[in-house]
Amino acid sequence: MPLRGRAAPPGDKSISHRALLLGTLAVGETIIDGLLESDDVMGTAAALRALGAGISREETKSGGPQSPDIRYRVNGVGLGGLHEPSKVLHMGNSGTGARLLMGVLATHPVTSVLAGDSSLNERPMARVTEPLRRMGAEIQARDGERLPATVRGAAEPVPIAHTLAVASAQVKSALLLAGLNAPGQTSVTEPLPSRDHTERMLRHFGVTVDVKQEKSGVQTVTLNGYPEISAAQVSVPGDPSSAAFPAVAAVIVPGSEVVLEGVCVNPLRMGLYETLGEMGADIAIENQHDSCGEPVADIVVRAAEGGLRGVEVPPGRASYMIDEYPVLAVAAAFAKGTTVLRGLAELRVKESDRLSAMARGLAACSITVKEGKDMLTIEGQGGKTPPVGGATIDAGLDPRIAMAFLVFGMAAKNPVTIGEGDVIATSFPGFSGLMNGLGTAITETEETS
Ligand code: S3P
Repeated sequence: MPLRGRAAPPGDKSISHRALLLGTLAVGETIIDGLLESDDVMGTAAALRALGAGISREETKSGGPQSPDIRYRVNGVGLGGLHEPSKVLHMGNSGTGARLLMGVLATHPVTSVLAGDSSLNERPMARVTEPLRRMGAEIQARDGERLPATVRGAAEPVPIAHTLAVASAQVKSALLLAGLNAPGQTSVTEPLPSRDHTERMLRHFGVTVDVKQEKSGVQTVTLNGYPEISAAQVSVPGDPSSAAFPAVAAVIVPGSEVVLEGVCVNPLRMGLYETLGEMGADIAIENQHDSCGEPVADIVVRAAEGGLRGVEVPPGRASYMIDEYPVLAVAAAFAKGTTVLRGLAELRVKESDRLSAMARGLAACSITVKEGKDMLTIEGQGGKTPPVGGATIDAGLDPRIAMAFLVFGMAAKNPVTIGEGDVIATSFPGFSGLMNGLGTAITETEETS
């Protein structure tokens, strides 16, 4: 059945974490409309409450298009004002929550313990712990620099200039947030620009952030410590990484046309939409406007006339498409010809090893794939008969793998089953309802054992 209609994807996850964090570091009341109420973001809110922030939720008539009835109010403690938490800060499945918060904690003189679920507790933290130690934090992590970890924030923080080997918004943001409560200049240099929501949100809260970009793409972001952080009003736009699932479903199910409303169209998040365009999909951006320093628009997606074609995706695209490779790989399976995805080493350390999860899952759905160290080659089966599908996928604790394979099932000959569908709520609560509202047929069954 074709997908048809309009839907507003939930609030952007990256922006939601940042709005709560900066609201906590500001003095006064920050109002957040459209906050993503996923397990990940709620984990960050709970941790910030334990650190002294007053965070409340209320029903309203004007919460904005992404969640019209809900408004959050954050009463900030002010920069330097965090309280020592009396309990472990549980960051659940969220690498963003854990790494950004670690940055904030590193330059506040309190001691805290951060822990995650079994997926987060296996993810590498050295990329943040090493530079944060140079800023004066004492961090004791589990073997291999993994969570749980104890962070004793520096009483006399030192600003640093740090160069990243791989572009990462989480690491860049952790260091910039740490730099807020250190004297002097903190700067982060990346080989290519990663998503810049922290920089935009800082400016929205009145903080000056300097960005210098070289022709090669190398970029340095600098801020001065101890700025005035002014409480703000934030309206969180829709998440382009969540919109990616109905978008790809619409592209691969013939006869579809959907409008995804109020989505953040920050250029550093648009890699998937650009790639789908190169594959022959019909995608238009309409009604673009600015909201709290972020570009927001409706994304109109129509099924590719004549079908999709395979493409070569260059490694540099990873910095602005990092979370969309699983669902892009699904689109590639439905294209005519071969798709080659390169530069994917970072996918091995996401919520799961996404490179091998995609290779295994696609093979189980009868697609020919080749997994390299940091690349994936997919033999698309676009044509008269759709790919077979029919597999049961173990998504582990990775919501994007679960959602990507449900999208596969929407256009395959046989439906796909996901073992642990609950994990989707860490990232995209209401996924099934939104998709089914557009015409798909996802069913949820309780396991009885
Ligand atoms: C995020 C940055 C990316 C992305 C993650 C969200 C952020 O991680 O994969 O889902 O909000 O800063 P990396 O910084 O590890 O690339």
